[in-house]
This record gives sequence, C-alpha cells and structure tokens, in this order.
Amino acid sequence: MLEDLRDERSATVPFPPGETRPSLARTRRFANEPLELLLEAYERFGPLFTLRIFHSNTVFMLGPEANHYITVSHASNFTWRESHFRDLIGLMGDGLLTIDGDFHRRSRLIMLPAFHREHILASADTVVEEVEHALEQLRPGAQLDLYAWTRHLAVRVAMHALFGLDPDGQAARAIDAAGLFEEALSFYSSDYFLRVLRGPRSPWARMQRAARKLDALIYSEIGRRRATGERGHDILSLLLDGHDEDGNTLTDLQIRDEVMTLLFAGHDTTTSTVSFMFYELARHPHVVARLLAEQDALLVDGRPTGAQLLAGELPQLEMVLDETLRKYPPAWIGPRRAVEQFEFQGHTVPARAFVNYCSWASHHLPDVFPQPEQFRPERFAPDAAAAIPKGAYVPFGGGSRTCIGMRFGQLEVRAIATLILSRATLALPDDFRLSIRQMPTISPRDGLPVLVRPRSAVAAEPLPAAA
Ligand code: HEM
Repeated sequence: MLEDLRDERSATVPFPPGETRPSLARTRRFANEPLELLLEAYERFGPLFTLRIFHSNTVFMLGPEANHYITVSHASNFTWRESHFRDLIGLMGDGLLTIDGDFHRRSRLIMLPAFHREHILASADTVVEEVEHALEQLRPGAQLDLYAWTRHLAVRVAMHALFGLDPDGQAARAIDAAGLFEEALSFYSSDYFLRVLRGPRSPWARMQRAARKLDALIYSEIGRRRATGERGHDILSLLLDGHDEDGNTLTDLQIRDEVMTLLFAGHDTTTSTVSFMFYELARHPHVVARLLAEQDALLVDGRPTGAQLLAGELPQLEMVLDETLRKYPPAWIGPRRAVEQFEFQGHTVPARAFVNYCSWASHHLPDVFPQPEQFRPERFAPDAAAAIPKGAYVPFGGGSRTCIGMRFGQLEVRAIATLILSRATLALPDDFRLSIRQMPTISPRDGLPVLVRPRSAVAAEPLPAAA
C-alpha cells in the first residue's frame, strides 16, 4: 500500500480528469455497484478517467478504442502482475493469468496445444456426461438455486475434463476439493478493508490454508502421473509432457500454478454465464420458444453432438450466449498497470498507474450497443454482429491474453444450456429481483432460485412481446 502511494506521488504528469479525492463511499460503491459508477464517470469525463478507489488513483479506459489499445495495440505497455488483482498470486502463483512478458509468452506456447480443437472435442463427452448426471436434480416440481447447482457442476467438470481427477474418487472426496476451492475463493468476496489483513484469522490466512490442502491433492496427482506414466485426454496430461520451442518443460510447481489458475479462471466464469443466461431466458419466453424450435430441428434424440457443441452449430443458442456475455461478461474487468507513461485521446497517464479496461461498462455504452439494458440476442445475428466495431465486444479479452479457455468455456455453457432446455423450463419466483456482486467475477448476489417445470410448458404458452 505504501509503495503504491509512493509510486503515485512520484508521478511526473497529472492523472487524467476524474474524482481523485479519497472517498469511502466511492470505494464501497465501486465494490457494490461498479457498473453504475463507471457509466456515470464515462458520462462526465469521457472514455478515460481517474477514480480514487480505496487508497489509490485508478485509471479506467472504456469503449472500443480503449479496449483495443490495452489488449492489442499497446498491450506490452501493461502488466497484469502488478495490477489491483495481484492478490490472486496468493492462490494461483505464477499461472498464465498472473504473469507477463516473455515468461507469459513461453508459458502460453506450452499451454496452447492443450486447448486445440481436437482436445476440447475429446472432452465434450465428459462434459455431457457430467451435465446429464447433474440434471437428475432438475426434475419438474423441484426448486433450487441454479447458481449453486451450476457451480458444483462446473467444479466437477473442471476436475474431470481438465485434470482427469475423478470428482467422486477417494482423494478428491476425502478433502472435499470443491468446498476447499470455494473457501479459498471467498477471500475475494470479503470486504476490501479485511483483505489487507494478514493475521492467522484473516481471510488471507483462510485462503492460504485452503490453497495448501488443494496443493496436496494436485501434487499427489502430478506425482502419481509422473511415476506411472499414466496419461489421458485431460489438460494435466498435456502439461506434464508439454514443452516450449527450446524443449523446456514445466516443473511441478509451474504445473500446480497452471492447474490452480485454470480451476479458478474456468469454473466461476461458466457458472455465472449459465446463471445470467437462464435469468434472462426466464424473462423472455419468446426467446426460449425459438431455442426449443431450433432443438427440435437440429438435435438427434434431444442430445447435442460434440461437434455441434464445439462449433456452436445451434445459431439461436449462439446469439443468446453472445448477448448474455455482452450484458453480463463474468470477467468484467481487465486489471493492468502501466509500465511507461502514455497518451490516449489527448490525455497523459503516468507510468506505474493502475489502469483497467472494463468489458461490462464498454458493453453498456448506448452509442455502441443501443438500449444496452435490453436483452436482445438479435444484436448478434450475423449481419448485425458484423457491424459491431472492433474492440467493442470483449467478453474474452483480446490480443495475446485472450482467454485461453474460451472454446472450452463456450462448449461447457452450450452443453449445460442445451441439455437443461431439452429437459425442463426454468421459471423465477415472482418476487425475485436480480442483484449483482463481483468477487472478482460478477454473479447473482443471492444465487438464482428457479422453479423447474416440464419442458413442454413453454411451447404451449402464448408468446409475449419482447421486453
Ligand atoms: C464463459 C467463460 C469464460 C469467460 C467469459 C472468460 C473470460 C476471460 C477473460 C476476459 C480473460 C482475459 C482477462 C484479461 O484481459 O485480464 C480470460 C483469461 C483467461 N481465461 Fe478465461 N473465460 C472463460 C472461461 C475460461 C475457462 C473455461 C478457462 C480454463 C479452462 C479459462 C482460462 C483462462 C486463462 C488461463 C486466462 C489467462 C490467459 C492469459 O493471460 O494468457 N477461461 N478469460
């Protein structure tokens, strides 16, 4: 913290215009309703502005040009590791998300083959199998929290498809890996002011304890695979044998860090996407009717094939997925720190400033996405999508840090959505009001309570007008 303040004081140029006086109310607002805060600031100051959040001046850059500037054209002037999200290093170590420069480039080269189409396709059956198993709870008449249901499923999918770890196996069950992971992540939803504490009862210490137990599980699996030579179609197998152009392989520690990173980056994002998608579908039965008609036309026995899931061959579902990720991009903020001083649209930003791009706010700029609060999948019909400006739509980031798990995440969401829709209709309780929290991905603050109804109920209902 002191170092941040020292860096800020040594800035040789002023920060871009904004609100730079300390304010507890603004810090709390940023934690609780960042979208509204950022859109208001955009109205007042334009695409580049400064807000003092907690102790430090933070620069925000919104809109297509800003997103492109940070993620593509000037990406090398920004580090991730020294950003406001550097606390994540405590859980993930030096995984892909938290490293920069040449180390990042080389690690990404080793990891990329694991995310090639054929490997993702090979995992489709495991994903479908896990979803079908979980669907047993979605019987007509049931009431459940879809967010919790999906989160549990996503952790199982990640353990199974990504790491070949049997979620029902003795080792995983004995330490309740999913529960531990939740515990580790709860650090990031604790209050800003508690997150700086480091004592034995602090959220930080709890996160560290949970992470160490997860480490034990991951290291024992790495050791077992190395000793037996056992390999499968999972990503862990590919990481054990992966190497860069000079033949360098990953150490056990690096593999542990990448495994933890993939678990972290992969399960919360897909969980939120499924939850927000079904929240919107429950409010737009005419969109559900289109999806069901598409299923009737394209699915065989109500089941998607791996190829359909991988290539997004259900075009109506694809538009719904794209619009869900526009309105609710789970990884909503791209945290960075400037290496050198730079200029953007007439303003100078000092070296070492905290700088963020924000897909959530960028996706809500009315000049780019008219009536942004409306859920309108038609925005992503092929002709309309082609007219969206470069850099405007960035749910998976961009450039050399584009989400490496994009194909896997899309396949997983498509599989879950298709199979739920083929079996059931989900309705919201009448009094449900969506409130969104960030921890650090965005998700429904109180989960997503749903009532499960038989699938046919929707097709029989009259189609209401679009909201
Ligand atoms: C709907 C699902 C997902 C969304 C919306 C999403 C979004 C994102 C975004 C926006 C970034 C870039 C962040 C930045 O610029 O700072 C990112 C990076 C990353 N994502 Fe995803 N993600 C999803 C699923 C996944 C899955 C399933 C995995 C793993 C299997 C994954 C692994 C990663 C990793 C490792 C990075 C860091 C890449 C790098 O820096 O080279 N993501 N993701």
